[in-house]
Amino acid sequence: MADRWQNTMEHAVSAARRAGQVVCEALQDDRKVMTKSSSVDLVTQTDQKVEQLIIQSVKEKFPTHRFIGEESVAAGEVCVLTDDPTWIIDPIDGTTNFVHTFPFVAVSIAFSVNKQRSLVSAPLQVEFGVVYSCLEDKMFTARRGRGAFCNGKPLQVSGQEDIKQSVIATEFGSSRDPEAVDKIFTSLKNILCIPVHGVRGAGTAAINMCLVASGCVEAYYEIGMHIWDVAAGSLIVSEAGGVLMDVEGGAVDLMSRRIVAANNGTIAERIVKEIDAFSPPRDDDPPPQK
Ligand code: IPD
Repeated sequence: MADRWQNTMEHAVSAARRAGQVVCEALQDDRKVMTKSSSVDLVTQTDQKVEQLIIQSVKEKFPTHRFIGEESVAAGEVCVLTDDPTWIIDPIDGTTNFVHTFPFVAVSIAFSVNKQRSLVSAPLQVEFGVVYSCLEDKMFTARRGRGAFCNGKPLQVSGQEDIKQSVIATEFGSSRDPEAVDKIFTSLKNILCIPVHGVRGAGTAAINMCLVASGCVEAYYEIGMHIWDVAAGSLIVSEAGGVLMDVEGGAVDLMSRRIVAANNGTIAERIVKEIDAFSPPRDDDPPPQK
């Protein structure tokens, strides 16, 4: 069967590579840091510039397509998925890493279409996902039903079924609300004390998900990340043979800001048992009245 979105995906891969070059060059310069929702939710001019570069290049080629971009949403654009072809863009996933030169940053681009016809599970909303880990020069790609790859080589999740033999990735996120932080620490303690072999975090949700897809960690979970952090990675994980779940079990909802991405259902369900769940404001909530 002809691959309807092949050209579109090729455009995404080259846009991600160009964006990654800009991000790597910017690491050599002074980075002016601004904040968004809180003093630890960082943004730089490079995030904004790279998002615009990607959006402009897509608009020139595909003028009717829509966008959900991290920095455009921060600037007041709506965050909605429709049946229209929609690009979900995180220009720098790992902005805090970028600011501090902690060496993991990624450009994440997902492409979703026909939302209404694919409500069963979130990855079905995503036609392709591209995560470019630019400092490592690793291009992760997945096309729905056609597998996941890193620099062209097929990816496969770990075969581990025993949580006690597993390494789990997670993040602390950018909320400093004491109640949320308490719950994050309770979950972390529960999981560490199973006990697991270790807990890791790359500082970018997208790269954590690519680590699951690559079999380097068995699972990644987080409450508080956004759709643009995980949309591409979710397809990369499921195309590498992994599973996605909500943190209380059941189908994941990419707008809910909650995710468990694991190598298999046994590991995902075991992690779900240990998570002290909460629900941050959804990505598709209407913006607060000013
Ligand atoms: C953040 C990173 C981080 C995760 C946060 C995200 P950003 O994305 O993915 O690992 O913990 O929840 O918001 O702000 O660097 O694009």
